[in-house]
Amino acid sequence: MNAIFGLLLATASTAFSFSLNCTITEFSQVAFVVNSCRDIVISDLVVPGGQILELDLLAGTRVTFEGTTKFEYYYWAGPLIRVRGENVYFRGAEGSVLDGQGALWWDGKGGAVPGKPYMIEIDVTGGLFEDIFLLNCPHHCVIISSTDLILDRWTVDVSQGNIKNLGHNTDGFDIIYGRNVTIKNSTVSNQDDCVAINRGEGMLITQMDCTGSHGLSISVGFSHRSFLHNRVVDVIIENSVLRDGDNGIHVKTHTDGYLGEIKNITYRNIHMTGIRNFGAEIQQNYPDGTIKPVGNIPITNLTFINITGTMTGKKSTPVLIVCAEDACRDWKWSNVSITHAAKPSKCSYIPEGFIC
Ligand SMILES: *[C@@H]1O[C@H](CO)[C@@H](O)[C@H](O)[C@H]1NC(C)=O
Ligand SMILES: *[C@@H]1O[C@H](CO)[C@@H](O)[C@H](O)[C@H]1NC(C)=O
Ligand SMILES: *[C@@H]1O[C@H](CO)[C@@H](O)[C@H](O)[C@H]1NC(C)=O
Ligand SMILES: *[C@@H]1O[C@H](CO)[C@@H](O)[C@H](O)[C@H]1NC(C)=O
Ligand SMILES: *[C@@H]1O[C@H](CO)[C@@H](O)[C@H](O)[C@H]1NC(C)=O
Ligand SMILES: *[C@@H]1O[C@H](CO)[C@@H](O)[C@H](O)[C@H]1NC(C)=O
Ligand SMILES: *[C@@H]1O[C@H](CO)[C@@H](O)[C@H](O)[C@H]1NC(C)=O
Repeated sequence: MNAIFGLLLATASTAFSFSLNCTITEFSQVAFVVNSCRDIVISDLVVPGGQILELDLLAGTRVTFEGTTKFEYYYWAGPLIRVRGENVYFRGAEGSVLDGQGALWWDGKGGAVPGKPYMIEIDVTGGLFEDIFLLNCPHHCVIISSTDLILDRWTVDVSQGNIKNLGHNTDGFDIIYGRNVTIKNSTVSNQDDCVAINRGEGMLITQMDCTGSHGLSISVGFSHRSFLHNRVVDVIIENSVLRDGDNGIHVKTHTDGYLGEIKNITYRNIHMTGIRNFGAEIQQNYPDGTIKPVGNIPITNLTFINITGTMTGKKSTPVLIVCAEDACRDWKWSNVSITHAAKPSKCSYIPEGFIC
């Protein structure tokens, strides 16, 4: 009896004195900590080239990035970080940065030359990611495939890619699938779309500050066989500014895609300055903008409210609408005023409330 009691005591005290260290400072610690901890700190971690920082988390886990998380060079597709889990919470501590070291890859050719990894893939159900600072993505920055997700106060800074035009295809936020996804109060400085939505329903993009980008975009038609993959509905993009970029607003359907739909999209309170190509371009002839548009993916209930700003340069056009016959319907626009363009607007479909 005594012996058993003694053994129990010893076991209990061992268990009691063993405390889990959930701070990751070396890459070799990642798998164990991720499998064991629900409150994880990633502190000044160096991720070796060719390795994914794989954060396949226990439900309800909190992760804090501290200091600089740095990713070493390797020729591969990435992603550099992949997050999976349910109801996860991420926070960047004050002064923390995820440094993709993009300049090691940039050659001015973007995705046309392989070997540049995507930076962070977020594949969660239930998530809040706050105060994340992404620096110098080698290629696309944030790839979202998630339900019930909020991203708040992100900074995506790829402005160094402007040096000698070496950064290219550095998309800010790509929503490849989203259901109930919000991105808010975030800043992007890059060389491709600020936000691009490819598929999903129920999204809110608000208080974005985009510099140098290809705009706030909806790009649909990547699938050659699935209607559901070519569907974007119920989206609000609002209260945002765009500076010094190629485009402001860009909605495009791919002529080689399967059937699909874009429906119930509202852009409101968007202000742009220094836009070089199109203030708003809506085209059903992507990617070859010179060919006849195709109505495989109708665009219906596209609402613009209070879209204002100025353009710059010889190519600038306020609004270009290229719709296939009867494939654009029920667009209501009000207070769309984009000035200082070199060329006039051109519309093959005229939205109610807009003089083209
Ligand atoms: C956890 O381990 C790291 C090294 O991996 C060390 O820097 C840190 O001090 C440890 N924390 C605790 C609470 O022991
Ligand atoms: C949308 O996602 C947020 C964040 O996870 C959640 O709080 C909210 O309940 C979700 N809304 C719906 C309608 O599911
Ligand atoms: C947006 O985020 C900044 C910090 O990046 C904060 O100071 C500001 O209060 C936020 N604004 C809103 C409306 O939440
Ligand atoms: C249109 O989308 C908004 C935003 O997601 C949503 O609140 C609204 O209910 C949708 N309207 C219709 C008629 O479905
Ligand atoms: C129009 O949008 C701008 C931001 O671009 C905002 O400051 C202004 O309040 C909006 N006007 C109305 C009437 O909502
Ligand atoms: C689209 O617009 C039409 C005409 O205004 C309206 O009857 C319909 O309810 C709208 N649908 C959505 C999903 O917003
Ligand atoms: C549209 O413009 C008119 C006249 O400039 C202004 O009175 C109205 O508040 C504006 N509405 C919106 C939604 O911006």
